[in-house]
Amino acid sequence: MKFKIKNICCIGAGYVGGPSMAVIAKNCPDLEVNVVDINEERINKWNEKNLDKLPIYEPGLKEIIDQCRGVNLHFSSDVKRHIANADMIFISVNTPTKTKGLGAGQASDLKWVDSSAREISKYAKGQTIVVEKSTLPVKTAQTIKTILEESIIDSKHDSQNNLKFYVLSNPEFLAEGTAINDLENPDRVLIGGEDNQSIEALVDIYKNWIPEKKIITTNLWSSELSKLIANAFLAQRISSINSISALCESTGADISEVKLAIGSDKRIGDKFLNSGPGFGGSCFKKDISNLIYISNHYGLKEVSDYWQKVIEINEWQTKRITKLIVEKLFNTISFKKISVLGFSFKANTNDTRESPAIKICNDLLEESCKISIYDPKVHPKQIEDCLNLKQSKIFSKNICGEWTFSNSVIEASQNADAIVITTEWDEFRYIDWEKVHKDMRKPAWLFDTRSIVDVDLVNKAGINFWSIGRG
Ligand code: UDX
Ligand code: ADP
Repeated sequence: MKFKIKNICCIGAGYVGGPSMAVIAKNCPDLEVNVVDINEERINKWNEKNLDKLPIYEPGLKEIIDQCRGVNLHFSSDVKRHIANADMIFISVNTPTKTKGLGAGQASDLKWVDSSAREISKYAKGQTIVVEKSTLPVKTAQTIKTILEESIIDSKHDSQNNLKFYVLSNPEFLAEGTAINDLENPDRVLIGGEDNQSIEALVDIYKNWIPEKKIITTNLWSSELSKLIANAFLAQRISSINSISALCESTGADISEVKLAIGSDKRIGDKFLNSGPGFGGSCFKKDISNLIYISNHYGLKEVSDYWQKVIEINEWQTKRITKLIVEKLFNTISFKKISVLGFSFKANTNDTRESPAIKICNDLLEESCKISIYDPKVHPKQIEDCLNLKQSKIFSKNICGEWTFSNSVIEASQNADAIVITTEWDEFRYIDWEKVHKDMRKPAWLFDTRSIVDVDLVNKAGINFWSIGRG
């Protein structure tokens, strides 16, 4: 039997669900695509008339929303109705690392996946393909299948009684900040499943804009595991180069020269070799933690120890930045003002999950300094939530460890003793350092954790300068 997919529902209107469905809707005008979320506020933002107020910032996204929303792409909080109407349902909900209970700090919290599967089992009708898109531990498809299959036994809501579920794994490889391009021109699409018909139904959707040779089909478990491993390998490269950045600083080598020299070897390649303040984002740490957890589960201690080191180097890299700032500022930053430029975990996104800036700011606040934070896309309320500290409207004389939000680089840097660049936003590459320096307290310092500024310009402006990986 060949599936005829006409109606798609995506549960979860987040950083993955939103852009992925927008690109499917754009490339498959004959498909009806409904993105649902229990968070009504989020859905309202996706339906905002003013496209600058969409809940996530992603270059190229608002143009697609403008083109497809209300045509064949809809955002709704009516989860029940859209599940019932769908031939294919994507699960794209959050799966953060558990903070308590069994596997805390390593295993993924699957409560949102579990409840999505239960909602599907409650409302779906007829032959339904369920696609797991969220990053999940290996064998989660099995959990989803069990929940769905159990529901068929006592199904009452499907009057025609032909309820049947097919589960596929279709992990997302988009990187935030380049999501639309990654979705339009992916290196590959991965689909794992157990039967050819349901796999083919999903392949047919992607074939609308992706060459068939880029579509890899595997069994369920290979697909789930490959997602974790792809992220683990990328993160491992970053920890490798970050460990070498410290060695460069001690020996007098320059990390950008080392990067060029080793990255020119085709076997190594030049991608993911930018040394920085440590990797952030919702995926890398979570996926490696999952890998560690399942390796331990299967008694593979050496494997889990190996990947644990990738996380440890990452944490060490972030920590050593604050240490260095304190040392350079005469071993105390108490009551000094530090300007932090960038708060998102990377440029071109407003996502702050696991952002190194959070850890750096927390470490700086611990040292009792005053921080002014500027980020072109992150809202001050989001920063308050991340730091778990309300912003001060103005700095007071006797409170230590407080922060304010600034609306520009210039505002953030007034009277600052130091500037720390934490995110590689393009506008930080073109700062007028002479102008900034005039308003800073002297001796003024710049710490460039992303190696993006022009050293000569900073030197010319007379600012003391430290950049990652430079001896
Ligand atoms: C990642 C994967 O790239 C993507 O395929 C997967 O689907 C989700 O996880 P994302 O987390 O959005 O995507 O961003 P990515 O570009 O991979 O960056 C992750 C972190 O690594 C960021 O904090 C970034 O600043 C850092 N990074 C990246 C470096 O420090 N150096 C590099 O060379 C590249
Ligand atoms: P990701 O980066 O994986 O897309 P997000 O946290 O940005 O993660 O988005 C996940 C979305 O899934 C959130 O908006 C959340 O409200 C939604 N969600 C979680 N559980 C459910 C559920 N059972 N039904 C509908 N939406 C859900």
